[in-house]
Amino acid sequence: MKVEFYRHGLGDEEVREVTDTLRSLFLTTAGKTARFEAEFARMLGVEHAVGVSSCTAALHLSLVALGVGPGDEVIVPAMTFIATINPVWWVGATPVLADVDPATGLLPPEAVEALVTPRTRAVIPVHLYGAMADMRGLREVADRHGLALIEDAAHCVQGVRDGLRPGQAGDIACFSFYATKNLTCGEGGAVATRRADLADRVRTLRLHGMSKGAADRYHARTYVHWDMVTLGYKYNLGDIQAALLLPQLPKLSANLARREAICRRYEAAFSRMPGVDFPRVPDGCTSARHLFTIWVDEDRRDALLAYLGEHGVGCAVNYRAVHTLTYFRERLGHAPDAFPNALRIGRRTVTLPLYPGLRDDEVDHVIETVRAGLSFRGPSADPGG
Ligand SMILES: Cc1ncc(COP(=O)(O)O)c(C=O)c1O
Repeated sequence: MKVEFYRHGLGDEEVREVTDTLRSLFLTTAGKTARFEAEFARMLGVEHAVGVSSCTAALHLSLVALGVGPGDEVIVPAMTFIATINPVWWVGATPVLADVDPATGLLPPEAVEALVTPRTRAVIPVHLYGAMADMRGLREVADRHGLALIEDAAHCVQGVRDGLRPGQAGDIACFSFYATKNLTCGEGGAVATRRADLADRVRTLRLHGMSKGAADRYHARTYVHWDMVTLGYKYNLGDIQAALLLPQLPKLSANLARREAICRRYEAAFSRMPGVDFPRVPDGCTSARHLFTIWVDEDRRDALLAYLGEHGVGCAVNYRAVHTLTYFRERLGHAPDAFPNALRIGRRTVTLPLYPGLRDDEVDHVIETVRAGLSFRGPSADPGG
């Protein structure tokens, strides 16, 4: 049996909506993008959503819109994807890495508090795997020190913690619609915010800093000049992508129920399997269940990755701790044990297949292949990072 790491669930409804767009006048940012933004904001319970080309773009524009720049420090977790951090460098600010909670991989408010200096301007908590960071605690720390909170919600279109969803406690939340995400259009993203000023700024910044987009220019009866009011970027979401996203919104709840059932099946099996652990979903949190990862012994991890691959089970590593990657090492100079929890998680992680279309017999096959892989005594490898 071959079990893919990911299979998307797009079908006839998505094809119909995209076809409708292809037969219409606008392929770029117009009516479907606006409809998606309104429906997405409603679903999140946040006033404003703005569609962009990726979560990376969303993070970049959030930093720019909040005025983060040279001389500023931005606190980020050491356990995340590099996209959380690279935009901090793009705006000329300095990322300050924080260690994560050893049981969840999430950024704790206490770790942020300990790193605040007079130069700290913002914090980017990551809702890792779909489980939300403690936004109430982080909001308190941020308010005490006058910091902006930018949520990296790439994994978390559907998470809730202590009654809060992404965008409801942070100043702005950033989402990814990348190919493997719970809500996908291949490549895409969005910001969500309660602040009209930030939504307006991101809307302008996503399209060159122009005062009008193509649809505004078209719908005016006579030609109206546009202006460039600020230095912007080319990060807008187009109507073809929005058309792919729209039919998925009503299906997200049922998909989450299936993701939850798969995770429970994994967790029941792995909690009884010697040598295997997995991150916990914090109390009071409904995880979006984007990724399912297990933790195995450091010296067995790479051998297990190889075994799974050789036996037709798609797997990945989300993630090795960022401070162990070459560029981070060279630029920030942290020793591997500077962030021991992130290091340990990064050396033990194996990500397993998780998507609504995964069948129970496939889940069981993954579990049995992990069991076989851990008892197989091939050569052990250097876990690197
Ligand atoms: C935690 C995290 N942040 C940001 C991103 C960037 O998302 P995108 O590929 O949409 O730019 C990803 C992508 O996988 C991610 O996992």
